[in-house]
Amino acid sequence: MTHEKLTVYPISDFDGLRRAGRLAAETLDYITPFVQPGISTADLDERLENYMRSHGAIPATIGYHGYEKASCISPNHVVCHGIPSPTKILQDGDIINIDITVILDGWFGDTSRMYYVGKPSIKAKRLVETTYATMMAGIEACRPGATTGDIGHAMQQTAAAKNYSVVMDYCGHGIGRVFHGQPNILNYGIPGRGTLLVPGLVFTVEPMVNIGTHETLTLADGWTAITKDRSLSAQFEHMIGITETGYEIFTLSPKGYTYPPYQEDK
Ligand code: MF3
Ligand code: CO
Ligand code: CO
Repeated sequence: MTHEKLTVYPISDFDGLRRAGRLAAETLDYITPFVQPGISTADLDERLENYMRSHGAIPATIGYHGYEKASCISPNHVVCHGIPSPTKILQDGDIINIDITVILDGWFGDTSRMYYVGKPSIKAKRLVETTYATMMAGIEACRPGATTGDIGHAMQQTAAAKNYSVVMDYCGHGIGRVFHGQPNILNYGIPGRGTLLVPGLVFTVEPMVNIGTHETLTLADGWTAITKDRSLSAQFEHMIGITETGYEIFTLSPKGYTYPPYQEDK
């Protein structure tokens, strides 16, 4: 077994991470008005790729373990890693996650948000809002001296309070000069267990929350993960760094978008 080391970045590296995170967030802001009934997920992906490249970045997902698209777009019961396709046309009432990762001057910036296509059901809206609260509960647990188990515990509790399940098959990850590194940030945990957080650690917090059970399946394309019971699933993702006093979110929306509905939807 190989044991991958934790990378602790000097705070001076946070500048590059801020710029990558900001561009990733800006890319998600940019796509917002295009998320409408009738558009294909491949059309959204093409726009996302053009935006990233025209701002000096490379989409990190292209060529990653054979993945060929600039984004993952995951509607409804798709948990994550939905592959953009010209035949996947968005319909009124869909909820979708768009997840993108840029490489800007060698720094990775990874973030995802939920979007409403037209008008969501009350049930879908409640899931999306709780999933955002789940991510934020995980982030708010972050400070030097806390552990990855504290993050996971906070997230699981938030989802469980609404009778939802956190996905156990996927997790957040260390990031920086690499796409996926240590530590893993599980969506569940035991307080005080796991990796000790110290200033300079950089990772994503990206809970997936299901209305039904936590179980997932991967489709024959080798990527698309869905809920086993076909229940709705939602996800948000921020990339953060641990500071001397707490945390810094690198992927905040320049437009102030948090969870939907966003300005353009109202
Ligand atoms: N952006 C995803 C994450 O949050 C990873 C996608 S890898 C891909 O870690 F190959 F599926 F695109
Ligand atoms: Co991501
Ligand atoms: Co990620």
